[in-house]
Amino acid sequence: MSQRWDNLTALVLCRTSPLSNCVPRKSALSIACWPACRSDRLFVCGVALAAARPRFCRNSTGSVAEAAEQRSYSFGIDRFKVEDYAALVETFCGASKKLDFEKIFRFAPKLNGHQLKAACQWLVNFKELSTDTFIEYLRSQRLASNVDLGEVQAVDLTDLKGVDDVLRNLEINIVLPLENDALANQYKLRSKRGVLLYGPPGTGKTTVGRALAHRLKSKFFLIDGTFITGTSDFYNRIHHVFEAAKDNAPSIIFIDDADSIFEDGEERGLYRYLLTMLDGLESESAGRVCVMMTAMNVAHLPPALVRSGRVELWLGMKLPDPQARAEILSEHLQSLPEELRNAEVPRLIAATEGFTGADLKRTVEDGKAIYAYDKAKGVELRPTTEYFMSAVEAVKENKERYAEAEAQAALRPKFPMHGFMRSFISSQVIRGDEDE
Ligand SMILES: Nc1ncnc2c1ncn2[C@@H]1O[C@H](COP(=O)(O)OP(=O)(O)OP(=O)(O)O)[C@@H](O)[C@H]1O
Ligand SMILES: [Mg+2]
Repeated sequence: MSQRWDNLTALVLCRTSPLSNCVPRKSALSIACWPACRSDRLFVCGVALAAARPRFCRNSTGSVAEAAEQRSYSFGIDRFKVEDYAALVETFCGASKKLDFEKIFRFAPKLNGHQLKAACQWLVNFKELSTDTFIEYLRSQRLASNVDLGEVQAVDLTDLKGVDDVLRNLEINIVLPLENDALANQYKLRSKRGVLLYGPPGTGKTTVGRALAHRLKSKFFLIDGTFITGTSDFYNRIHHVFEAAKDNAPSIIFIDDADSIFEDGEERGLYRYLLTMLDGLESESAGRVCVMMTAMNVAHLPPALVRSGRVELWLGMKLPDPQARAEILSEHLQSLPEELRNAEVPRLIAATEGFTGADLKRTVEDGKAIYAYDKAKGVELRPTTEYFMSAVEAVKENKERYAEAEAQAALRPKFPMHGFMRSFISSQVIRGDEDE
């Protein structure tokens, strides 16, 4: 900056949002920022300007009233750059020299002053401040994500059995570019822009979302049935999610049960909006935001949404094969009290052809409940495996009834709330501790 600050008599600040809430109360800058945020982003102040840091400012282009422009110098405050991160952190906790701000900036390029200040206030408690601690803080605090991880069951991608190819693809195309900053930078890795995760109910699609939420933390944004279509702030909420995801790019937007959300054919507005958003992402963030949708029935998704180009990666969740069923059953059985753990897994595997991961979990839970019931009644106990075989039959019956109900529903004219109801119910799933 060539101007001599002490000679200035007036300063016009516009676009002050990056600085909101982050400068000491009494500085000239905060005096200028405070009303500027409220009055059409324009404020003229005639105070000493030494406190205003030149590095935050640049010449403004347009939008400042002509009269004010003639009597003052005017500056717009742009998004922070790497140097600004360093300057602010130095101001807030005086430890900036040890930190790799290039790396922090790559991880979270659009932090505002308020967020940097919050990070510093927390990190000041650490004796040794390191770049990794700083980044871990940004991750753990979920500065931007709209998901409260405390409400999401802690699961790992490796908890899903028999879908190794899907997990490998997720690791390569989403997790690695988002999680491993150094490699992503070295090899210019980009997550896929559009990913569709499809498969029968109960095959682990929402579980993938939960695992990614825990793994990617502040990089993960969720749209699900709690975004109630037809309500007045629906588009607003969607818009905010996309904006936050773009601000925190690289990031992921996970749209759970997209087929249910779009199933109400009436909700044309939503998917048009989504298409616009997706196309916007193509140009604005050059593939730095990944949109992952889950669907039970790909046929219920609007063709324009799935047409080649928008969905770059199709991942099919399949029913577990015998080996995967063995792993899932054994894992669930191991979590039971000792006396129930010795069930004959090979018999159960043979009887559960066509079962999903969710069905197998239910089988083990139901078997345990029947056993506990017999015990409570004081009747003579059967061999353990028999309890789980009874549960298998009950789950099979349920599945048949479900299939019948689905077939009948397909013949009836659509109940307008159907899609919403299903996605609402499933929203209890992703945000709930348990999935049942
Ligand atoms: N392949 C699998 N391995 C282990 N557990 C699984 C597997 N598939 C599903 N499960 C378990 O089944 C339960 C239900 O899974 P989830 O809710 O993720 O299924 P979904 O595909 O989202 O179903 P829906 O289409 O009904 O929403 C979870 O507890 C999950 O861990
Ligand atoms: Mg689901």
